Amino acid sequence: MNVNIFVAAAMTAALVGAAPTADAQTGAYARAAVATSAQQRPMRFSSDLGTAAGSLVIPLGTASDLEMRAAALSAEEREAITRALTSARFNYRARQTLSLRGIGGWDRILVVGLGETPSASVVQMAGAVTGRALLEEPGAVQVLAHGLSSGDVAEFATGMGIGEYRSDLYRDDARDAETLSSTTIIVEVHAETQVLYAGRGRALIDAMAWTRDVSNEPANVIYPETFVRRAREAFAGVPGVTIQVLDVAAMRREGMGALLGVGQGSERPPRLLVIRYRGRGAPADGPIVLAGKGITFDSGGISIKGSAGMGDMKMDMSGAASVTGAVLALARSRAAVDVVAIAALAENMPDGGAIRPGDVLTAMNGTTIEVISTDAEGRLVLADALSWAERHLDPVAVVDVATLTGAVGGALGGEYAGLFSRHDALAAQLNAAGSATGELLWRLPIDDSYAADMRSPIADLRNQGGTGAGAGTGAYFIGEFISREIPWAHLDIANVAWTAPNDWKPEGSAAFGVRLLERFVRDFQPIEAESED
Ligand code: BES
Ligand code: ZN
Ligand code: MN
Repeated sequence: MNVNIFVAAAMTAALVGAAPTADAQTGAYARAAVATSAQQRPMRFSSDLGTAAGSLVIPLGTASDLEMRAAALSAEEREAITRALTSARFNYRARQTLSLRGIGGWDRILVVGLGETPSASVVQMAGAVTGRALLEEPGAVQVLAHGLSSGDVAEFATGMGIGEYRSDLYRDDARDAETLSSTTIIVEVHAETQVLYAGRGRALIDAMAWTRDVSNEPANVIYPETFVRRAREAFAGVPGVTIQVLDVAAMRREGMGALLGVGQGSERPPRLLVIRYRGRGAPADGPIVLAGKGITFDSGGISIKGSAGMGDMKMDMSGAASVTGAVLALARSRAAVDVVAIAALAENMPDGGAIRPGDVLTAMNGTTIEVISTDAEGRLVLADALSWAERHLDPVAVVDVATLTGAVGGALGGEYAGLFSRHDALAAQLNAAGSATGELLWRLPIDDSYAADMRSPIADLRNQGGTGAGAGTGAYFIGEFISREIPWAHLDIANVAWTAPNDWKPEGSAAFGVRLLERFVRDFQPIEAESED
């Protein structure tokens, strides 16, 4: 997909579609679409090094790589680089960088470590660190990749695009930044590499940018209807895609009292967005369903949150953004898979029509729920999303993704998302996809004892437990809305979806789950019935 077309489409829709009463909003929305994806440098592949100007990138796994990789440089340039590497005690570990200026005709030479036998995800992350490091460089970029495999080079190029993402959507300087000049990757196997990159890498870059854009956008810009609009724009013209949107009336007909309950305290009506992508040659035994929590703002509702940091709750639709992004990556790269993204979209607000603590809701599957806390809303919207998926899609597996609990971070910190499943084979496949992509998961239990914690004296379930396992009881609750025979897993990404700035990304959304789920769906193996615990 051509970047410029992508951006232009987003812009047009923004100008046409924004709220007529809010000019400031219209302008902001249009600018956001311009300021993000457009920053990515066009990527070219060649066998020959061009003129010495702009930036030169040299990825190195070991000291001896320099000879082969930099054969096209002059002896003086190579000598200067070697001296600098020694003097800086460069250790060649993955993501280490050394920036050199004043060598030959180059404005900048960036040496980046790969480590000795790097996996695909490590090479990709080294590329991302490179892309981010060169974000402010005005000139052209050339990457010396001689001697690396086409697979590794495609990963590195993909990483560069991921690292070139900016989140300063609404800043003057970002808005006015001139389009970056091109990147040329120089490698013998350039044609092969380009095919790999064009077939998959480019789609992943665009999908992650889409996911990060909608997550980073404020809640006055992204709410259920505009989330749907942006998804429609992203999927427009992509073959094999069908989109279905349930509005309030349609959800009432389905009896989705839990999702509707969460949405009823907001001026912005809820939506259930269903995007199916069925590629040519996909298996015919039913889709993999990826369901995402899509709370476009979580104020807590009547159980209102404290004001400190409440603004970060614009990211509470990150699960929905990630499942949509994963399916976008698969669809744009024409993967031979059958997959559905469901975004359970609502804004959790406390107006006069809002649900109250103590209210009882009836979910689509007939289960009644006593609302203990209106701030435990993610499990409510996912409850109906899973029931809808089971009733209408006959899925081979269901994975829900949610920024569900603060408790998951207390258990796991910031490196691993929480994985909950009663199906060992499904958990194993998700874990494998996590390790392969570097989006790591750690499995936590859904213990039978959680059932007692989630019992209500007045209804079938309550939506918050006592002082027990906060993340686990959330998982238990969601699991009550899908039959035990269907392989199901829950990913709690509350601790990894949103991060401080680091070497590969700015502050904000990490698009956590896009790479993991893309990999998981591509590698999916049908799950035998007996694998259930
Ligand atoms: N969206 C929050 C969880 C969250 C917390 C996400 C921090 C990202 C960062 C969720 O809706 C919530 O409020 N969870 C409550 C659950 C409780 C009321 C059962 C929590 O974690 O305290
Ligand atoms: Zn929430
Ligand atoms: Mn909440």
